[in-house]
Amino acid sequence: MKYVMTAIITATLSANAFAHEGAEGVIKERMDRFKENKEAMKAIKGNLTGDAAVIAQKASEIEAWANEMVNFFPEGSNQSPSEALPAI
Ligand code: HEM
Repeated sequence: MKYVMTAIITATLSANAFAHEGAEGVIKERMDRFKENKEAMKAIKGNLTGDAAVIAQKASEIEAWANEMVNFFPEGSNQSPSEALPAI
């Protein structure tokens, strides 16, 4: 419940989150995965002088998504709110 409240508040306040309203299917999924990558990068940065196990874990998560992401850009999946260019 706390998470839901936080999500609602974040969605209300954040222009970025607002831009993603209506994203669904593969577009939503890859946006969520990229956001997880962003959080993983932050966790790594925050542990550079801290817990190496966290860095290893988060690096593995980024690697896993890197290996999967090519399957998340089927042709034509760049309609709004996606910001993916047709070239991708
Ligand atoms: C560690 C590496 C990466 C990180 C941390 C990262 C992070 C992100 C984030 C935070 C977004 C915004 C997601 C959103 O709209 O909420 C994004 C979008 C995107 N990224 Fe990445 N990314 C990474 C690697 C890549 C790579 C290697 C590619 C292409 C080969 C790529 C292509 C894209 C594209 C095309 C979008 C737009 C998706 C859409 O709007 O439909 N990213 N990424």
